Amino acid sequence: MAIRDIVIKGEPILRKKCRPVENFDNRLWLLLDDMRDTLIDSNGVGLAAPQVGIMRRIVIIDTGEQYVEMINPEITFTDGEQTGLEGCLSIPGKYGIVTRPNHVKAKYQDRMGNWCEIDGTELTARAICHECDHLEGRLYIDVADRMLTDEELSRLERQEGDS
Ligand code: NI
Repeated sequence: MAIRDIVIKGEPILRKKCRPVENFDNRLWLLLDDMRDTLIDSNGVGLAAPQVGIMRRIVIIDTGEQYVEMINPEITFTDGEQTGLEGCLSIPGKYGIVTRPNHVKAKYQDRMGNWCEIDGTELTARAICHECDHLEGRLYIDVADRMLTDEELSRLERQEGDS
């Protein structure tokens, strides 16, 4: 396992649509393990494969309460609304206010290729939306209500989890 370099905004790869995963093999498992190490190292909430330079539909989410690896995820249900702070490991030092659904369900394949479903609210719902957007080449700055000002950034006492 290893920590991979995180692709930073400005690289074209972050703006491309990712391809489905077809092979649930050793190479995928190594990537997932590396992504988890990378996420832990960066103290983030979620990470999508294009953020480590891989154009495949893979995301991982770690809310502190739950760790999930989602391959070929598809959001199947959204409900409600939440407005809150959001950041991204590929956009260091910035935060925005983003409105997302408060309740999200998604289907996805696990690392063995089995179809599963996740049903999440609040931070989990936000993270699912943020990470699935990465697979379409979308970043939170595209959908943010607004970005925090420098003054607001300097007032942020404690760094929220990035994804
Ligand atoms: Ni992100």
